[in-house]
Amino acid sequence: MGRLALAAKITHVPSMYLSELPGPHHGCREAAIEGHREIGRRCRALGVDTIVVFDTHWLVNAGYHVNCAPRFAGVYTSNELPHFIKNLAYEYPGNSALGALIAEAACEDGIPARAHDDTSLDLEYGTLVPMRYMNGDGHFRVVSVAGWCNWHRLEDSRRFGASVRRAIEQKYDGTAAIFASGSLSHRFNDNGSPESAIHEISDEFFRQVDMRVLQLWERGDWKTFLRMLPEYAVRCVGEGHMHDTAMLLGALGWDAYDKPVETITPYFASSGTGQINAIFPL
Ligand SMILES: [Fe+2]
Repeated sequence: MGRLALAAKITHVPSMYLSELPGPHHGCREAAIEGHREIGRRCRALGVDTIVVFDTHWLVNAGYHVNCAPRFAGVYTSNELPHFIKNLAYEYPGNSALGALIAEAACEDGIPARAHDDTSLDLEYGTLVPMRYMNGDGHFRVVSVAGWCNWHRLEDSRRFGASVRRAIEQKYDGTAAIFASGSLSHRFNDNGSPESAIHEISDEFFRQVDMRVLQLWERGDWKTFLRMLPEYAVRCVGEGHMHDTAMLLGALGWDAYDKPVETITPYFASSGTGQINAIFPL
């Protein structure tokens, strides 16, 4: 019998990497980076051996997919924002066994899913950015789940998330954490916006809706939030259509979940989008 020790919604904005480098953006994302470090420290204290990331940068057009290669290593450049993340070297151990158990549990629960261990699939930056700050020493094994589900129902992602938890608690012999790696509102700034807009929201409407959502999160009103999630995902241009959030809340019991979040990095705007690091208490 395994244990789910920590759950969180996390940012992965590529300006965190720029923040490390000399230049005009040096230090600009220190709060988000420190938030990741803190979540990493908490995972270590809780004895987490494997981090499962619902990665909104892994696009899939059919099915649910788990990248559970035995080892991840490479030098990554973002094809979407190559001027933000380039030549990022990484190396992490994987967990093929847990990945297979997640797919097995999901299939048993009626959500067809595939685990890929013998694969040349690489990690996307929804996994690579947080792992850089939480897991720079490769302490945690990493499993990445496709969270940009283009033609999927949020209800199925809820059920997939519940299966992830069941796999961890009923099938796995170890301790895991799960992260929904994606933004709140996700409407980028228009092309050609000034460089200073890297710290601005693209439209005040999105910030105001995000603020209301965070009020609901901070008082644990998941019933209300989940009633608005489908429309929130559409109107606020949810990253990966917010399937990462549906998976996370599915793992936590959906509208039976009642705990307020613990904000680790307060809300901030990044390149037009709304971002946060928040732990969802178990
Ligand atoms: Fe993203």
